[in-house]
Amino acid sequence: MGRIFSGIQPTSNLTLGNYLGAIKNWVTMQSEHDSIFCVVDMHAITVPQEPEALRKATYEALATYIACGIDPKKSTLFVQSHVPQHAELAWYLNCATPMGWLNRMTQFKDKAGKNRDSVMTGLYTYPVLMAADILIYHATHVPVGEDQKQHVELCRDIAISFNQRFEREVFTVPQPIMPKQGARIKSLRDGTKKMSKSDPSDMSRINLTDDADTIAKKIRKATSDADVLPSEVKGLESRPEAENLVTIYAALAETTMDKVLGEFAGQGFGVFKPALANLAVEKLAPITKRTQELLSDKGEIEAVMRQGRDKLIPMANKTLDDVKQAMGFVTL
Ligand code: TRP
Repeated sequence: MGRIFSGIQPTSNLTLGNYLGAIKNWVTMQSEHDSIFCVVDMHAITVPQEPEALRKATYEALATYIACGIDPKKSTLFVQSHVPQHAELAWYLNCATPMGWLNRMTQFKDKAGKNRDSVMTGLYTYPVLMAADILIYHATHVPVGEDQKQHVELCRDIAISFNQRFEREVFTVPQPIMPKQGARIKSLRDGTKKMSKSDPSDMSRINLTDDADTIAKKIRKATSDADVLPSEVKGLESRPEAENLVTIYAALAETTMDKVLGEFAGQGFGVFKPALANLAVEKLAPITKRTQELLSDKGEIEAVMRQGRDKLIPMANKTLDDVKQAMGFVTL
């Protein structure tokens, strides 16, 4: 039994995509592993954030984790900036990470695009902070989506080269774990794009703060096509919207796409969408309702934040002491 670490950025509302793609898996994993889940506010500021929006999103993310079933008695939940040791470790790791390694990061290339000279330095060194998050707690496994795999691999390279350079096992070398396929949720407007918190259209996603009526409305209005559903998954090829809606159904019902098609083959979206809307409301409305309840009493969320912080600071300090000792800092 290893230790799991993962995090999500509080850049705005978490979505159905975050739930089915990440948080739902975390809920299962927390019973089998020592688990630490973070709201990575220091990563969020790698692109400009409105201060009040960041604060609100940070509370919302933590409330959503709990409402989705992450149990603060089983897992450790915290806010990244509450353990500033991450930033200190990131500095030491910045001085142990060749620029060539960061130049290879495809997410930076995608995000910076043509604006390489005007994006902030933090966006470039972001993967080093992520490595610090993971290494400071000796996490053994890091559940992430495909887009973050390269960053976890960089983290492994940093850990291995640091251990070699200073000739001791300062860091545990972690492994990425990818969610089982089928949980990659696309936009409700365009089945070729990821469901994203940053899409300008709110109709493209289901937020984990939406109420039951909104959830039902968004599903009913989701883009689909005029064909009936096929009897096999193969028949969904080149029908990205249809595939996405069947994927969502299967994930929410905790079944396979084949079984869903077994039930709905030959039916059109006039039948399938209302069924999906009912299912989504049944599964998600309790979560979004609980999120709203938690948000109405910040005290409860803050108590969970404090509990996480107080547990993690000593662990983080221990790792920092080892790092500083290894690197040759004078410790008093
Ligand atoms: N970079 C991740 C993302 O944007 C979030 C993240 C930060 C993270 N630190 C992490 C994920 C550590 C896993 C482990 O999705």
